[in-house]
Parts: sequence; C-alpha cells; structure tokens
Amino acid sequence: MSGTAQIIITVLDELLLFSVLFLPSVVGQVSYTVPEEMQTGSLIGNVAHDLGLDVKRLKSGNGRIYSGDSRNYVELNVDRGALLLKERIDREVLCGETTPCALHFQIVLDNPMEFYSVTVEIKDINDNAPTFEKNEIKFVISESAVVGAKFDLERAIDLDEGINHVQSYVLKPSDNFSLKLRSQADGSKNVEMVLQKALDRERNEFIPLVLTAVDGGEPQMSGTMQILITVLDVNDNAPVFTQPVYKATVAENALKDSVVVSVKAEDADHGLNGKIEYSFTNALDDVRRIFEVNEENGEIRLIGRLDYEKKKHFQINVRARDNGGLTDSCKVIVDVTDINDNEPAIKIMSKSTVISESASAGTVVTMINIQDPDSGDNGKVQCFINDNIPFILKLTSNNFFSLQTDSELDRETASEYNITVTCSDEGVPSLSSSVTLTLQISDVNDNAPVFEMSSYEAYIVENNTPGVSIFTVKATDADWKQNARVSYILEDSSVNGVPVSSYVSVSADSGVIHAVRSFDYEQIKDFRFCVKAQDGGSPPLSSNVTVKIQIQDQNDNPPQVLYPVQTAGSVVAEMVPRSADVGYLVTKVVAVDVDSGQNAWLSYKLQKATDRALFEVGSQNGEIRTVRQVTEKDLLKQRLTVIVEDNGQPSRSATVIVNVAVADSFPEVLSEFTDFPHDKDYNDNLTFYLVLALAVVSFLFITCLVVIISVKIYRWRQSRILYHSSLPVIPYFPPRYSDTLGTGTLPHTYNYEVCRTTDSRKSDCKFGRAGSQNVLIMDPSSTGTMQRLQSEKSILDEPDSPLESPPSPAASLSPYRSLMPTL
Ligand SMILES: *[C@@H]1O[C@H](CO)[C@@H](O)[C@H](O)[C@H]1NC(C)=O
Ligand SMILES: *[C@@H]1O[C@H](CO)[C@@H](O)[C@H](O)[C@H]1NC(C)=O
Ligand SMILES: *[C@@H]1O[C@H](CO)[C@@H](O)[C@H](O)[C@H]1NC(C)=O
Repeated sequence: MSGTAQIIITVLDELLLFSVLFLPSVVGQVSYTVPEEMQTGSLIGNVAHDLGLDVKRLKSGNGRIYSGDSRNYVELNVDRGALLLKERIDREVLCGETTPCALHFQIVLDNPMEFYSVTVEIKDINDNAPTFEKNEIKFVISESAVVGAKFDLERAIDLDEGINHVQSYVLKPSDNFSLKLRSQADGSKNVEMVLQKALDRERNEFIPLVLTAVDGGEPQMSGTMQILITVLDVNDNAPVFTQPVYKATVAENALKDSVVVSVKAEDADHGLNGKIEYSFTNALDDVRRIFEVNEENGEIRLIGRLDYEKKKHFQINVRARDNGGLTDSCKVIVDVTDINDNEPAIKIMSKSTVISESASAGTVVTMINIQDPDSGDNGKVQCFINDNIPFILKLTSNNFFSLQTDSELDRETASEYNITVTCSDEGVPSLSSSVTLTLQISDVNDNAPVFEMSSYEAYIVENNTPGVSIFTVKATDADWKQNARVSYILEDSSVNGVPVSSYVSVSADSGVIHAVRSFDYEQIKDFRFCVKAQDGGSPPLSSNVTVKIQIQDQNDNPPQVLYPVQTAGSVVAEMVPRSADVGYLVTKVVAVDVDSGQNAWLSYKLQKATDRALFEVGSQNGEIRTVRQVTEKDLLKQRLTVIVEDNGQPSRSATVIVNVAVADSFPEVLSEFTDFPHDKDYNDNLTFYLVLALAVVSFLFITCLVVIISVKIYRWRQSRILYHSSLPVIPYFPPRYSDTLGTGTLPHTYNYEVCRTTDSRKSDCKFGRAGSQNVLIMDPSSTGTMQRLQSEKSILDEPDSPLESPPSPAASLSPYRSLMPTL
C-alpha cells in the first residue's frame, strides 16, 4: 500500500462510512468495502464527501479515475460525487485465492493537479457451492478386502473462501464405510473412505454411496458425488447340493440315455467361482459303467444296461466342485424296479424218454425245474401240461414239479405222447415258455393174440392129397415186436381115438392148416380141434380157437347091391308064376351107396334082358315088375341085368344079374338052372387061380426063409472072425416090427404101408403113395427111434439080410418094408 496517509472509510450498508484524510494538493486516501456481486450502478461511496471535496471542484477539476492498465470496475459520478459500480464484480474471478481482495485506483483532478487513492475491498459472499470434479467415481473392491482398508476420495472444490469454503464431508449410507479426513503436510485435508465391515458379494454386489461436501456459508451450500462400489467375487462359497440324498427309481428296461435323476448344487459365488462341475466319486463298483453324470447340469443318465436280477440298488456318490476347488458331495440312491423280462426257464431233469406201459398211476416220469429270476409276481410261475393225456404235473417243492402218470398207460392205444409243459409267470404282460417232451411207451406183453374169428369152419373134399393146405387161421396181437409175434400151435386132442395131429398140422408161423392125410368122407365127416395162438412175450399169452373141418363127399364109391345077393357058385332066381298079371312085382333090387347126397342117390335101369318087353325096373326104387301078361311062349329062364347108378359126377354104377324063372313049380326051375355054363366056368377058374396063388406064395415064403437063415449063419461066422474085440453090440429092433397091421385099413383096397426113415424127429407121419389109392398109416411107435442108415447102398448090396442087426453101433436097417399085402 502506498500512501502517506490512510483514511479508512468503512462503508456499512447504505451508510457509507468514509474515513477521509484530506491532504491539500497532495494525496488523499479513502477505502471502501463492498461485497461482491453487487449490481451495476450500486453506490460504493460518496467519495467527494469523504475526501472533503466540493462537487464543483470535481467538475472543474475534471475529476476522473485512474486505474492504470487494470480493469476499471468503478466509475465516478462527478455530479453526485459518488463512486458507482460500473461492472459486477466476482471476487473469485478478480482475486482467486488471494485475500484480501481489493481494487486500488486513483481519482485524479486537474487545475490543480490533485490525486486521491481509493481502495475498494471486495468482500466474499457464499456464492459458490462445493463441487466435485466428477459426478461419480467407481471402485472395484474384492469382497475379501480387510476391514480398515482405505480408499482415497477426491476432495470437493469450493471457490469461496473462509467460512464459505468446504467445511465437512458426509458419506451415506455409512454401514460399511466410514470417512476419515487426514491432514496433509501442507495443511490441506485428504478425504479417505475406510472399510468398516467386510463386504459380501453374495449379499450385495453393488454398493452405491453418496459423498456430500458442505461449506460453512450462510446459507450453507453443498455438493455431492456418487461413489459406485462393485464388490469383486472371491471363491468364498462352496457348492451346496440341494439335497444330501437323492432317490430315484428306474425300471430295469429303461432305455439308454434316459435321465434317471438330476442333482443340483448351488454356489453363491459368481462366474467361474460359481461354476460347478459334477462327477462321480464311486471307485470300485460298476456305477461308472451304467450311469453318467452330465458335468454341467447334473443330469444322471443311463449309459449301460440295468438288470434287476443282478443288482437292485445303486448308490452313486456325486461330487460338485466349483472352479476354485471347493466341493460338496451327495448320495444318489437308485432303486431298480423289476420288469417281467425273464420268461420261466423249464429244465427237464431226467433224460429218460421211455416209460413202460405197465407203470402204475402216479409213477414219476421226470422232474421239472422251473426258474424265473424275476421277482414278485413276475417270478411267480404256473405250469400246466396239454390236455387229454394221462399225465399230471404236481408241484413237489418250490420250483420243482414232478410229471406223473395219471392213469394206466396203454401202448396199444397211444405209443407215444408229446407232453408240452407250458409255464407262465404272473407278470403283466405275462411271459411264458414251453418244452415238449416226447415220451415213448414201451411195450409189455399185455395183449393175447386174438383170432380173427371166434371159430373157424372149413371144408375139404375127401381123397385130398396129403399135405394140401386146407385154410389159414390168423390171429393178431396188439403188442409190439416180439410180444406180438404169433405162433400157431395145434392143441392135442383126439379124433375118433387118433391124435388130431395125424389129421392136420398147423404151420407155426403162418397159421396154415395142412391136411396130413387123405380124408375119407365115408369114414369121417367132420372133426374139431383147437389151435392155439401164442405170442412171443415172456410170459407168453395165448388164446385158442375151435376149428371145424368138414369133409366133403366125393363120388368115390360105386353103389353096392345088397339084394339079390351075388354068390359064387349058386344061382338065385326069382320065380314068376305064369299066371302073373301085368305089374307083378318080381323082386326089388336093393342097393346102397356109402357116399352121400347126390353121390348116393341111386337110379336103376334095365341094362340087358332076355326079353326086354317083359320086365321093367322102377328107376327110383329098383322094383322089377312085369310089363305084360306072361305067356306060355316066354322062356323059363329069364336073365336080367340091372344097372344101378348113382347121381355123382361122374357117376358110378354097379350091375346086378337077376335070374327070373317063369314057372309054376320049383322042380321045373331047378332042372333048368343047373346048367348055367357061364357061371360054372367062372367058378372053376376062380378056384384054380386061388390054389395057384397059394402055392406060389408058399413057395416064395419057404425060399425066403431058407435064404435068410443061410445068410444069418454066414454072417455070424464072419463076425466072429473079424471082430474079435469086445465092442459093445447094441441090438437094434426096428420098431416097425411091432406094427399093428390092419388098423386103419380100408376095405376094397390093398393097403400099403411105406415107411421111410429119416433122422427128423419132428414128423412122425409118413405117407406113401400106391397108385391112386392112398392110405396113410400112423405109426406111433416110430418116433425118433430109427437111426439113420449108414449107407443105403450097402444095405441094398445085401438085400437078403434086411432083418440082421449088424454088430456095429451104426446099425443099418432096410429103409423099406417090402410091400406086404394085407388081406
Ligand atoms: C455392509 O456390510 C455388512 C456386513 O458385512 C452387510 O451386512 C451389509 O449389507 C453391507 N451394506 C452394504 C450397503 O453393502
Ligand atoms: C410228437 O411230435 C413229433 C414231432 O413233432 C411228431 O412227429 C409226432 O407225430 C408227435 N406225436 C404225437 C403222438 O402227437
Ligand atoms: C383154450 O384151451 C384151454 C385148454 O385146452 C382151455 O382151458 C381154455 O378155456 C381154452 N380157451 C379158449 C378161449 O377156448
């Protein structure tokens, strides 16, 4: 401040207080104080008065303001002698931080030159609010920041000075942070924000704060700034499963890839710290082969096959892990539910497929084992077998059934059964399976052979060839193979005292019945016998049937004339009186025929007659009657030949000569009949032949006897010479020498017995043939006793020793009995 004298004029409101130092012709000095921001034209002070100047002087002296080159905010009103504000004054612009703030200028007067110093002090008013440079500031603070951590804040700016300057700061809300002002070395104060309580991002991620700066002016002014705090996440939270244990059920047939259950863990942290990865921690079991967890969303899926029958429960340990390595774990219990996916398995325990038909009801055929691994109803199994077979299925114990016969079996009705065992479980839908067992029924000899007919009747014409087959019996046996092999056996019986085996034989294999002999109807008309059919079982079964054989007649016998009797040597004659009338019954030819039926139906005919006109023969009854009146002319001796014919095919006949004497007295007849020359010749011849035959036979017999004896003697001698040794001599007596000749012979024929020896012991019947007349002779004693001829030839070489028993045991025998006539 320059000036020698200073008058300090204090201007107080309207009243301007001047402290004027009047220095004549030199310098006066005056001061004023005005607040800033006064309106243009406002009075600063009555400078004339204060300086003690006259207004006229101001005018005349051309009073003016001199402010050098600084800006002139003030003007001088010379008329009023007052200082007026020329321009609005902002202290802050004018002075900035300089205090005190004043304007210095001079008032200059001319004529005489005078100048006065004026100081106008500008007083501050609170016209500026505190301000912050930025409206908001941002902080990123980790939630792990420790309590007490400090954060610098910007100071607020307030252009005003003094009390009008920033006096204090306020931070709101203040629960987590507090404010601290720190004095700097230069006296200024730093504003700091201090963490009071730890942050938790999980509760508040963004914290907005407001910092307010206030000054001390009147009225008080303030400025605010937003502070935005972003809390940075720290992995301070572990994942947490929503449930400690999860439960799930899944059907064993669940498809691959189906979701079993979802586990979920939550992590309060943010971003990577909250990113959870799920995994299994099961190590030993097969969980990892069957399940899979989605790392990101915790879905547990099926990747393998489930099988209730193998495993019913799974315990899965799931771990959730966040990026920071914090973990939690939970258990997942998976119950597998059974699905009826197994059909019952049927196992037949025995391998035998054959059962005897004699098995009684209740015989166990086989045991059957059923297995169904499913549980509950899915594993409950019902079994049954097909209907209409004589078997039943019985439950013996759990899962074991026995297949038994229900009734008697009969192979002849059914030789084989297909037994189908069907088992089904009670699941929904039910599964079933079946097994077929083919059971063979083995045969037992329980059926006797059965003849096709209850009795047989057959016919054979007599005079058959021996050995001819008559007919066949047949029996069938319902059994099998050997048990059904029928053989036929002729049952022993006798027919007319003769064993039936001498009449017929039965072929064991074929049942063909053969005639053993030639039958004669006139001897036997029918006979019965029994044939037994026997099977090959053990023991054998048999049945028998009666066979009746009827022999049919053949016309093999000519009629036999019983009357008139034909005698050799004598002549019988019927007498007809000459007086006999027409139709006089002379005699009756009586003839019989041993045949029967047509073969025995006889008819009579007159074949030859001395006088055909005189006699006739009744063709049916054989009555010989006169046809006309006998006259004197008729010869005495009448000879009629009557032929008797049977009706057989071809017919057989016999003739008879009937002598008729036509005379009235017996002597007359006698004389006539003595000379029947023909008859006499006949008788003589017959007698002669008989005598001759007798003589020849006797001669032959004696010759034979002589020869035999001489040979015997010769042999006896030879053997004594040759066989000196004591070889045993088996005497041999041919059995046929005890033959009862004459049995079984038939009249009218010569019977020949022809016996051939064989070594066969089966047949004791031999037949020979002698011409057309066949006779069979049974020899019951010859069975098996004949020995084989050593050599037929050697015997034949010595034909004259047929009865000799040779000393050698190999006895020889003439195979032939010579034809011996049996008269
Ligand atoms: C301040 O911290 C406490 C405890 O740490 C908390 O509960 C509260 O929510 C926080 N306030 C704000 C505004 O973040
Ligand atoms: C049993 O089954 C077999 C084979 O299928 C068949 O050949 C046979 O005829 C059947 N038997 C019966 C008695 O049904
Ligand atoms: C078979 O013959 C035997 C004895 O010969 C007899 O006992 C039995 O009754 C006969 N059977 C029949 C069916 O004729």
